Amino acid sequence: MSDALDRREFLSAGWKVGVGLLAAAGVWTSWDLLKVRLGAGFAARVKTVAPDAVPANTVLEIPEARAYLTKIGDEVVALSEKCTHLGCRVPFCDSSGRFECPCHGTVFNRAGDHLAGPAPRGMDFYKVEVVDGVIEIDTGETIAGAPPGTETINEPALGPPCGEDHA
Ligand code: FES
Repeated sequence: MSDALDRREFLSAGWKVGVGLLAAAGVWTSWDLLKVRLGAGFAARVKTVAPDAVPANTVLEIPEARAYLTKIGDEVVALSEKCTHLGCRVPFCDSSGRFECPCHGTVFNRAGDHLAGPAPRGMDFYKVEVVDGVIEIDTGETIAGAPPGTETINEPALGPPCGEDHA
């Protein structure tokens, strides 16, 4: 009788510990995926690539700057990967050719224009400068994104969105 109770208590405690560990792992994984990454270059000038290496019809992620580089016409722009809604990291969806925030579904086009969702403006920018043939991103100063309705580029979605709920 006593052995049966001990075994039952042991299994009950083990089950609770297992669930707790799974929950902790889930929280950690979610946080690790969604947080804006802390790079060594934050609040500094980050050296990236030559202007020719920046794609014209997609984006190049620069993790050290928490930014994406892309071209709008001949101009290179650096977009902050921090969502202007509540700050989640916004990934670029290759299939749609748009930024799709996984937190609340805001969608931005490749130029960072706000297309849909709760964010109050387009994606924020950083200043860029070409120094000795290399683009430097100045992450020390954020330039506010354009208000909703701004249409810097007019590119239809390339294909299906990456997120289920995204337009
Ligand atoms: S944090 Fe991006 S939509 Fe809310």
